Order: sequence, then structure tokens, then C-alpha cells
Amino acid sequence: MRLRRTGSKLSARRHSRQRNEHDRAKAAQCWLRGAEAYRKHRSIMGIYEEWILPVLIGLSMRNRRLRPYRQRVAGAAEGRVLDVGVGSGCNIPFYVQPAREIFGLDPSPRLLARAQSNTQRMQVPVHLLEGSAECIPLADSSMDTIVMTWTGCSIPEVGTALMEMRRVLKIGGRLLFVEHGRAPEPGVARWQDRLDPFWMRFSGGCHLNRKIDDLLADAGFRIDRLETGYIPGPRIMTFFYEGAARPR
Ligand SMILES: C[S@@+](CC[C@H](N)C(=O)[O-])C[C@H]1O[C@@H](n2cnc3c(N)ncnc32)[C@H](O)[C@@H]1O
Repeated sequence: MRLRRTGSKLSARRHSRQRNEHDRAKAAQCWLRGAEAYRKHRSIMGIYEEWILPVLIGLSMRNRRLRPYRQRVAGAAEGRVLDVGVGSGCNIPFYVQPAREIFGLDPSPRLLARAQSNTQRMQVPVHLLEGSAECIPLADSSMDTIVMTWTGCSIPEVGTALMEMRRVLKIGGRLLFVEHGRAPEPGVARWQDRLDPFWMRFSGGCHLNRKIDDLLADAGFRIDRLETGYIPGPRIMTFFYEGAARPR
């Protein structure tokens, strides 16, 4: 009787040890599967962000409807010019005298590599800088003009970036911009708010719902000129703000 009880205790202990080992092995397998799924997801997102997104941005930015905006905005730049979020360099051919030196800043090496081809036929020197608008690698009061075209939507810390732009602008310098952003109609703006979290994930961090004039005013800019309106296309992404601002 005692022997049997001891035997059953022993086998119960063995069973429990086996169950623990089995559970640990299963947990390790789950962890490995989870890690593998995460790694796959990361590498899919990595491939998308590193290879596909720059091509999509490059293509969408070459849209012919945007050319008149580039002509007006980049074409009005003077002196030393900083193009914030220069991307694949679509503004570069539109810089004309009196712009005399262009600095193109962007965090994406792949977009900067594409921009390089646009610098070749330029009469004025063009310097492409890899970096972020939240920490502009240029001296205080060193730029006459800042150009920002469809970039304010994508900068993660846009308030910080606008203050950096103020820092590098000379007294009397101008920020020339064209951006898409928050629509004035509450119905459209509601959809912009709803879709923003999804859109952001697949568009390289582009926000649909930023109110550009308020952001400029909050960062200490005085808006000298502002024109707003829709271009043809889905209303959530086609309400444009175009204008000029100076540090207050
Ligand atoms: C829609 S593209 C516009 C590109 C270009 N300005 C044009 O008009 O063709 C947005 C650009 O913002 C850039 N960007 C994103 N975050 C940024 C940041 N923190 N600082 C500067 N540029 C940024 C992206 O790399 C991309 O080139």
C-alpha cells in the first residue's frame, strides 16, 4: 500500500516535471513563432518603408497638377534657400535667380539619391543634407528663404521643426509654403481625423488633418499671405494652404 502510494507520488512528480518541460518548450516555441512573425512584419514594413515608399513618394510628387504650385513657391525663393523635406528634388528645377544657393534637407537617403539627379543642370550650387527638420544642421540666421512643399504634413514634431526654421531664417527672411491639411468643412475634417491613424502608417507619417496656418502662428510666424482651396481629388487630401510667412 505504502509502496504503491510512493510509486504514485513519484509518477505524479515525474508527470508534473514532464508537463512543466512541455509547457516551457511550448512557450519557447510560441515566443520563437511570435518573434519570427514580428521579425517578418518588421522586415515587410522595413522593405516597404525603405524601397517602396520612396518610389511612391517620388511618383506622387511628380504629379503635373503640382507644377504650378512649385513654380510659384520655389520660383519666388531668394538668396540662400533651405528646401525642408526636399524629397526626390522636384522643386530643384524651379529655383531661378535671385536664388543663389540651395540647401535641400531630408531624412531619407533614398529620396536624396533621387534628388541628386535633379541637381546636375543647375546653375546655382545645390547642397543635399541628410537630416531632420527638428534639428536643422545650419547656423542661426543663415537663410534668406525657407521653402516647404507638402512636407509639414510628414514631420513628426512639426512644432519643433517650425521653430528650427525660425532660428535659421535671417531677420526679414521668408517661409514660402504649400501644404495639404485640415479642411474647413466639419464633415470632411471629421473624416480626416478618422482616417489619419491608418493613412499615417502607410504614407510615411503623412497627416491628413494638420491646420497649417495655426501651426505657423503657434511657432511664432506672422502670415503675410495665405490662399486656400481644393484641387481635384479626394477632399480629405486635397485642401491646400499656400502662402508666405515671416518670423514675428
Ligand atoms: C510628400 S514628400 C514632399 C517632398 C518634397 N517637398 C516635394 O515637394 O516633392 C514629404 C517629405 O517630407 C520628408 N520628411 C519627413 N519627415 C521629415 C523631417 N522630420 N524633416 C524633414 N523632412 C521630413 C520626407 O522624407 C519626404 O521627402
